[in-house]
Amino acid sequence: MREKLEGIKADMQKKLEYIEDLSALEELRLRVLGKKGELTQLLKSLGALPPEERPAMGQLVNEARQAVEALLDQAKKSLRAKERDLQLRLEAIDVTMPGKHGAMGHKHPITIVTDELKNMFLGMGYEIAEGPDVETDYYNFEALNIPANHPAKDEQDTFYVENGFVLRTQTSSVQIRTMEKKKPPIKIIAPGRVYRSDQVDATHSPVFHQLEGLVVDRGVTLGDLKGALSAFARELFGETTQVRFRPHHFPFTEPSAEMDASCFFCGGKGCRVCKDSGWIELLGCGVVHPKVLSMSGISPDEYSGFAFGMGLDRIAMLRFGISDLRLMYENDVRFLRQF
Ligand code: DAH
Repeated sequence: MREKLEGIKADMQKKLEYIEDLSALEELRLRVLGKKGELTQLLKSLGALPPEERPAMGQLVNEARQAVEALLDQAKKSLRAKERDLQLRLEAIDVTMPGKHGAMGHKHPITIVTDELKNMFLGMGYEIAEGPDVETDYYNFEALNIPANHPAKDEQDTFYVENGFVLRTQTSSVQIRTMEKKKPPIKIIAPGRVYRSDQVDATHSPVFHQLEGLVVDRGVTLGDLKGALSAFARELFGETTQVRFRPHHFPFTEPSAEMDASCFFCGGKGCRVCKDSGWIELLGCGVVHPKVLSMSGISPDEYSGFAFGMGLDRIAMLRFGISDLRLMYENDVRFLRQF
């Protein structure tokens, strides 16, 4: 009996060396301590012994059982620790590994230019105003002193929406909306999309961008307009920039002018950028027509103002040397990545 017990213990010890997981360990336990296990069988066979031998043998078997249980326990603990170690290693995060870089987007050239101009005008004390893209005929034309028979209203130029609405053809509509809401002093810019029924080519697109400006206060003169807009041109193209004003006609200003800036590329000598003229056409402007003021509820006897409007797409093309307007609306990432 003693030998058998030793045998069971030794056998168990040897097998434990090869056991690698908890389920194999449980199998081994059942084989020894289970209902039909080797030790359990031995314990049962004690009944066959002469009564005087039973206590001593019983004690032996119990000791052996305790020893086997202790071995199993120990093995279980070390297997558990091993499994935990493995799990921790599998789930470990290497904080020294280089991070994954998401691809950074790029600002569109028109957005870059719009942001720059906004900052310049904000720096000169202007506020930013907005209006809707889908506009009424009144704000887009009538209140700007554009008569019903004006050629700009032709279907060929204007996108008409249902119920007398149009897609605004100019940001000048925001002038009117601002004057209706706000009493002078007014000093705003309004950047935004505008729409015209133009054929697409290298310089035309049915949607493009303008930046409008409006200043209204007591005693505002043409001199103020010249001062403000030449300061703007110098900020945009550099300190040495010259400007010139050419008489023009806009229904909503009187007098009206177009302003050119000396070419930032050649300094006025003439080059590819200014088409050898030395000048770059920059914006339209003028003194706000008294009729426009009064239609918006501002007395032209008390107040006067100046306004200006420029094309942002053209400025972006000049600024970045982009030769074809279509590139800016196709949004090929290979193009956009350059800015
Ligand atoms: N709205 C004009 C256009 O689309 C541009 C313009 C000219 C705006 C003169 C003005 C202005 O405010 O005073 O061609």
